[in-house]
Amino acid sequence: QEITISVIKADIGGMVGHSGIHTDLVALARQHLEEAQRRGVIVDYYVTWCGDDLQLIMTHRHGTDSPIVHGLAWETFERCTVKAKEMKLYGAGQDLIADAFSGNVRGMGPGVAEMSFIERPSEPIIIFMADKTSAGAWNLPLFRMFADPFNTAGLVISPALHEGFRFEVHDVKGHKRIFFNCPEEMYDLLVFIGAPGRYMIKAVYTKKGEIAAVSSTERLSLIAGHYVGKDDPVCIVRAQGIFPAVGEILEPFTMPHIVEGWMRGSHYGPLMPVPLQYAKCTRFDGPPRVVALGFQLADGRLVGPRDMFDDPAFDEARRLCNVIADHFRRHGPFEPHRLPMEEMEYTTLPEVAERLAGRWEPLPEPHPAIAGGDGSAVEAD
Ligand code: 13P
Ligand code: 13P
Ligand code: MG
Ligand code: MG
Ligand code: MG
Repeated sequence: QEITISVIKADIGGMVGHSGIHTDLVALARQHLEEAQRRGVIVDYYVTWCGDDLQLIMTHRHGTDSPIVHGLAWETFERCTVKAKEMKLYGAGQDLIADAFSGNVRGMGPGVAEMSFIERPSEPIIIFMADKTSAGAWNLPLFRMFADPFNTAGLVISPALHEGFRFEVHDVKGHKRIFFNCPEEMYDLLVFIGAPGRYMIKAVYTKKGEIAAVSSTERLSLIAGHYVGKDDPVCIVRAQGIFPAVGEILEPFTMPHIVEGWMRGSHYGPLMPVPLQYAKCTRFDGPPRVVALGFQLADGRLVGPRDMFDDPAFDEARRLCNVIADHFRRHGPFEPHRLPMEEMEYTTLPEVAERLAGRWEPLPEPHPAIAGGDGSAVEAD
């Protein structure tokens, strides 16, 4: 029988500001899921956080998109919101955009990553959770894990991986999806996933169709239509055997790649891999953080976790991250630290621009000498 692992997350309120979470919310969510486990609704659970985002990791037998499990998550978030409001935490209930639950949390604000599979004799799993960044932040690391032989030795060495993987890419603005086989269609894949604000790797499969990885692709700004914080995505990856080794899955994070998010969700900055104790965003509300928790599944039970980035092997990545963060910060309000105008559309910047709309004066018509003789623009080669 298949086991389903669901990671459902939401920002219920920050402590202090957007920097972190209050432990009372974590405790309350644990209590709620403990009850659900006792009633047999879920097999196991682990409640954690990354920055100001509450993370519900659940295993169960209801399959993906189950109203039972999504309902449980929604109810947990609602209960925590009541508590967050009592404490007047910052942005209490921030990510609960819809007012009432309607069967599935997708499109209601929370981020979701879920997968179902038959548990292998040994089933190592890594769960990545990020704060102060956006869905799409997993594109580069997922590409490295499953398609880059300079990252994943197994793609070359192991007969189990040598055939490559299949990527499911979503166009979150066009609301459509496409599949690419790698390595055959690697360049086609990169045409799209190199633009992670729009095209996101939703899932990765083996060529035989076994699920390998799944990510949350909810974009809050597209759901709410205005700025409500960042998406702060999650991702589940299966390891070993027909999948990359644990170390191959962690390796992409030694290169702190540049992601969208950070202060007011409006800046580019490097993604810092950290242990849970540093999964809080302080400097300029960042820099963006990622944590990785490793579990071994045992008949659906979550054995673990191990805090995978709690390791001096990632010290250099963190140091480099700080160097890059310094350099980006020096750009202040200038691109490419600040996001380009089309991305700023969902922030409060247009409101400010709007106030100045009446101050713009038209420029005089271009002189005929610099346009074509008939007044039309000269065409360049
Ligand atoms: P061990 O000998 O420590 O099990 O390591 C095996 C391995 O393949 C590591 O990548
Ligand atoms: P969150 O999405 O983590 O709440 O971040 C919002 C923000 O504006 C940080 O400056
Ligand atoms: Mg917040
Ligand atoms: Mg957050
Ligand atoms: Mg957020």
